[in-house]
Amino acid sequence: MTTLGTPLSPSATKVMLLGSGELGKEVLIALQRLGVETTAVDRYENAPGQQVAHHARTITMSDPAQLKALIETERPHLVVPEIEAIATPMLEELEAAGVVRVIPTARAARLTMDREGIRRLAAETLGLPTSPYQFCDSLAELQAAIDAGIGYPCVVKPVMSSSGKGQSKIDGPADVQKAWDYAMAGGRVSHGRVIVEGFIDFDYEITLLTVRARGADGQVQTQYCEPIGHVQVSGDYVESWQPQPMHARALEASRHIAKAVTDNLGGQGLFGVELFVKGEQVWFSEVSPRPHDTGLVTLCTQHQSEFELHARAILGLPVDTSLRNPGASAVIYGGVEAQGIVFDGVDEALAIPGTDLRLFGKPESFTKRRMGVALARGTDVDSARDTAKLAASKVKPRQA
Ligand SMILES: Nc1ncnc2c1ncn2[C@@H]1O[C@H](COP(=O)(O)OP(=O)(O)O)[C@@H](O)[C@H]1O
Ligand SMILES: [Mg+2]
Repeated sequence: MTTLGTPLSPSATKVMLLGSGELGKEVLIALQRLGVETTAVDRYENAPGQQVAHHARTITMSDPAQLKALIETERPHLVVPEIEAIATPMLEELEAAGVVRVIPTARAARLTMDREGIRRLAAETLGLPTSPYQFCDSLAELQAAIDAGIGYPCVVKPVMSSSGKGQSKIDGPADVQKAWDYAMAGGRVSHGRVIVEGFIDFDYEITLLTVRARGADGQVQTQYCEPIGHVQVSGDYVESWQPQPMHARALEASRHIAKAVTDNLGGQGLFGVELFVKGEQVWFSEVSPRPHDTGLVTLCTQHQSEFELHARAILGLPVDTSLRNPGASAVIYGGVEAQGIVFDGVDEALAIPGTDLRLFGKPESFTKRRMGVALARGTDVDSARDTAKLAASKVKPRQA
């Protein structure tokens, strides 16, 4: 049985989000609706999630001492990582000492914190199909790995990076130096390790949102959302839709891979399993042990969005992963470098039937920073995609 308390009272059920961007903000709103007392942590003040939580804290989450001090002071029942750049060995220590429960598990947070832990788990421990890959610590090693079998084209990524930062495709020998330099400039920490992957010529890629939640019998069950299709530009998501039509055998293979990975990572919560699909063939790419950016589309397509699913699953509540209607999302970038920007055309966007909008409230805009997302439901995915892109194009961020 799950018992929830009253926020801001001694009975409160307390949840701390580590990372409070646009995805964390929606998780926090879902938790607030269930009367959970929330703390939003980020590295800068007034992050989107901090604007909707009971408490806001600003620390360097990759600093183990700061993280430990905060968790020991606040004593949340659950700690929910929203980003990868966290001192995850400290979370493992605190979890092992019984101080806190980490979502889905501290080990899952550590293994997915960089590309190496999760790739080796998927390919080497679980034997799942992935692109061919090598880890390299220098330009010479990178060249040797390509020559020894990865071949061209291939993709180079810093082991610690997200949203396409430092990632580039290599088409031939002339690109290798440039890709290495780009990876060195784009990684989260400058220890210079990269993964080089053989390029997969997929037909399409999906995110398979997979939920580990308690069923009626109290046991953790695995449930899947309808597959989400998406388009990435320079490694960053610009458009997503649901459901992505799939060959039945490709869907079966996708679920099999998602089950193997999430069974191993364990715990409770929602995972975003990224897969490449060509015909009936499926490759595992990576997994987020938390809501996924391409899953923003579920705000307009499912009875329970990925954020509500995550909130329920982590609290030990039952979930409903079913689709309500087809839909799509289109990203709204900042387009300008400025603080406290304004958005023109919100009325025009929302005047389009079947649309909705999220403006994240980020205090500072960058040209390529995701500042909002347009959502559109439709009778089919193609029309929803058109509508979402049209709505996004109406919203024009500018300097105040
Ligand atoms: N081996 C590959 N072959 C083909 N495309 C790839 C490969 N690796 C990455 N990509 C493309 O780049 C995108 C981002 O790569 P990903 O590994 O998911 O990085 P991130 O962690 O930044 O999301 C993928 O969604 C896919 O479109
Ligand atoms: Mg990805």
